[in-house]
Parts: sequence; C-alpha cells; structure tokens
Amino acid sequence: MPAVVIVGAQWGDEGKGKATDLLGSRIDFVVKFNGGNNAGHTVVVGDEKYALHLLPSGILTPGVTPIIGNGVVVDIEVLFQELEALSARGVDVSRLRVSANAHVITHYHRTIDRVTERFLGKRQIGTTGRGIGPTYADKINRVGIRIQDIFDENILRQKVEAALDQKNHLLVKIYNRRAISVDEIVDSLLAYADRLRPMVADTALEIHHALEGGKTVLFEGGQATMLDVDHGTYPFVTSSNATAGGASTGSGIGPGRIDRVIGIVKAYTTRVGAGPFPTELFDASGDFLRANGFEFGTTTGRPRRCGWYDAPIARYSARINGVTDFVLTKLDVLTGLDEIPVCVAYEVDGVRVDEVPVSQTDFHHAKPIYERFPGWSEDITGVRRFEDLPKNAQDYVLALEAMSGSRISVIGVGPGRDAAVVRHDLLG
Ligand code: GDP
Ligand code: IMO
Ligand code: MG
Repeated sequence: MPAVVIVGAQWGDEGKGKATDLLGSRIDFVVKFNGGNNAGHTVVVGDEKYALHLLPSGILTPGVTPIIGNGVVVDIEVLFQELEALSARGVDVSRLRVSANAHVITHYHRTIDRVTERFLGKRQIGTTGRGIGPTYADKINRVGIRIQDIFDENILRQKVEAALDQKNHLLVKIYNRRAISVDEIVDSLLAYADRLRPMVADTALEIHHALEGGKTVLFEGGQATMLDVDHGTYPFVTSSNATAGGASTGSGIGPGRIDRVIGIVKAYTTRVGAGPFPTELFDASGDFLRANGFEFGTTTGRPRRCGWYDAPIARYSARINGVTDFVLTKLDVLTGLDEIPVCVAYEVDGVRVDEVPVSQTDFHHAKPIYERFPGWSEDITGVRRFEDLPKNAQDYVLALEAMSGSRISVIGVGPGRDAAVVRHDLLG
C-alpha cells in the first residue's frame, strides 16, 4: 500500500494530525501537499502535546522523512521557529526536505491578508491572517517567489521588485499603509539562505524514488474538503486544493499512483471562520460540543462553531476525494447526550434535497433534516474493540457508515495516540 492520502472531510480540525500520527512507524515518508501555517494539528503523545502548523504531523515519528511539497506555501520564519521548537523537545528534524518549487509567504502577503480582511468588513472570510490567500494569488498571477529564488540574489531582487511594484500602490493609495521596501524583503529572505539550502530538493523526484523503492508515502492534507478552493463553500474557503487531487499536483506524483484515500471525519461538525454551516448549533448543545471537544482553534485560538454530523457532506467528501476509508474521530465527545441528531438531508425552500446543493444560495438556505439516535453514558475512552463499545455507540457508527459513502475503518475515542478502535487496517 505505498501511496496513501489523508484529507479532512468537513471544514478542518477533524483530527488529521492524530490520524497521521496513528499510522506512525508504518510510514517512511510524509508529504504535506497544500496550505501552509494556517493549519493547526494537535498531536498528543503520552503526556506531551505538540501543536504543528507548517510542518507535517508525521515529523513526530522517528525515522520518517517529512517533505514539504511544491503545493505548500512556506513562511520561512515560521519554518525555522517550528524546527527549533521541536528540536528543543528532542524531535529529530534533520530529515526534512523542502520543495524548491514551493512558494514563499513574505511580510507583504501577511500584511495584505490582514488589511483586505479588514476592508471586507462584514463580508470577511475570517482567514487565519497568515498570508495564505495573497501568496497563492501571486502564484497564480505569476508574480510569486519560490524557495529556489532565494539562492539567486539577482533573480530574487527582480521578482520582489515585480511583486511589490503594484502592491505598494495598493498599500499606500487604497489601504493607507506604508510602502514595503524591496531591500527589506530581499534581505530578510537572504538571511535564511544558508540554513535553508541543505533541506531544499527536487522533492517530486525523491517521492518518485521512494515509491519506486516500495516505500510507504503518506500525503497529508491541510484544511479540508469544504474549505477546498474548487469544491468547498467558495468564497468561504482557503486558497488551495485540500482534496485528494491536490496530493497529486501539490507533490508531483501521477494520480494513478494513489492507492488509498483516507477521509478524516468528526462524529459531529465544526467550522472556524465565516460561511454556510447547515447543522450549526447556537444553543446549549453547541456549548456542550465545544466544551467537551475542546473546540478552540490550534492556530488562532478562536472558538470553533459547532454542529451535528452532516451525512450529505460526508457523502460529498467521499465522492470528491474517492475516499476508501473514513476515520471517525471524537466519538467520545458525544458521551453523555440523551440523543444525537444526524443531518440526513436538507430542506431547501420547502423541497427535500439529499445531496450538497451545487448552488451556493441553496446551500445558504439549506435547513437540516434530522434523524435522532439514542445516546450512551458509559466512558468509552478506554475501549479498543468495536464490540466493547456501548450498543448505542455501535449503532450510531453503523448508521453513519451506511449514510456516508465509505466504510468507517477507525474510530477515535480520545486525543491520545492509542485511543482508537481499529475495524479495518488503514494500510492493509
Ligand atoms: P487537524 O487540524 O485535523 O489535525 O485537527 P486539530 O488537531 O486541529 O483538532 C483535532 C483535535 O481533536 C486535537 O486537539 C486532537 O488532539 C483531538 N482529537 C483527535 N482525535 C480525537 C478523538 O478521537 N477524541 C478526542 N476527544 N479528541 C481527539
Ligand atoms: P487544519 O489543517 C480549520 C479557514 C479559516 C478561514 C478560511 C480561509 O487545522 O484543519 P486562510 O487563512 O486559509 O486563507 O483562511 O479557512 N481555515 C481553517 N479552518 N482548520 C484549518 O486547518 C484551516 N485553515 C484555514 O478559518 O475560514
Ligand atoms: Mg486543525
């Protein structure tokens, strides 16, 4: 089972980091293929808690080679901060490889991200403010800076000049900000050149060699299906392809090489930032999920919006990503509820709709149609076999499986590394 993709099936924070960590020592390479330090993965190993943003979660497993693929946007200052913090805690980060083609997040991208959000006023997206959107915009607009440019001062200067030419007009004349100097940007990037050089590689070629050599490569998606720039709730999305197709373009392997696609889905739903969310709760049930699931952002600390499980979204994700297996996380968070509603379809302007509507307006108007399942009160965090779960918990999982378009192979019952019930081997 050499090439395995992990993607979020909802609006992020499903527990992708933990799922990656769960596969641990069976993985040889882990490749981050999209996004940047907008991601926030919390991984709990024993008593230690790690919060990762830019680096792939697989970096925590000894012996794994972590790769930052060409589809990622890299804030170099953050890269070194994370590497130093992990080294200080005894994590071996020496194997990290960074694609020469990955784009660089600079000071002006972060500034523009924050200033445009402010100008959007009540229409704002609620971005993480990390410069993600403006960096991808420059990439598509062909005025981006790539990692390889940092090793050629002359080229770097020309590219920064070209990028800042227009932006400084915008910053000064429209946004009432100071102009950013070319020297300031060039010098700040050049300062990292020597430390960066040994990590930079033709990562597409290295991944190719790894797969040819029979190694197991895990492609770790940041964000999630409903935040994907093509398939998510546009414009309330991130600026990259967080779906399984992104693993191919964001790392440089052919789509036919992918053997398995693992969708990570929470036993309920959360969302950070603005945009439609049919099953969102504004009552005590939402507070229950937020408190029990500790639903506060790893990156920005914002409280996450919480709601019930949405089966049409799970089916949509199964289809868009070609999910072969779901990992259902945070089942333990539902313990103590008398009954658990699950959205099985929507009502849009008086009409029942079974799938995620293609029209954005319809999705905004979609009201969930709920089916209610009986809850359980037993603590399930110590359970490791499916048949040891309370009957109502088993039935809840089986009901979700029947409506979600793929089998549920692993069930998360707690934040810890081994707090999981495995029904089918994810790599078998
Ligand atoms: P990611 O962005 O998809 O990697 O997810 P985050 O790390 O942002 O958020 C998931 C949170 O849920 C983290 O704090 C995890 O430690 C935690 N978590 C993951 N799986 C489980 C689970 O099965 N049960 C509980 N209670 N917590 C979990
Ligand atoms: P992980 O990998 C949840 C959201 C932001 C905002 C929108 C655009 O931890 O699941 P951006 O800064 O990317 O331009 O913001 O996307 N967002 C996330 N929400 N989890 C994430 O990552 C997210 N990354 C971005 O809140 O609504
Ligand atoms: Mg997260």
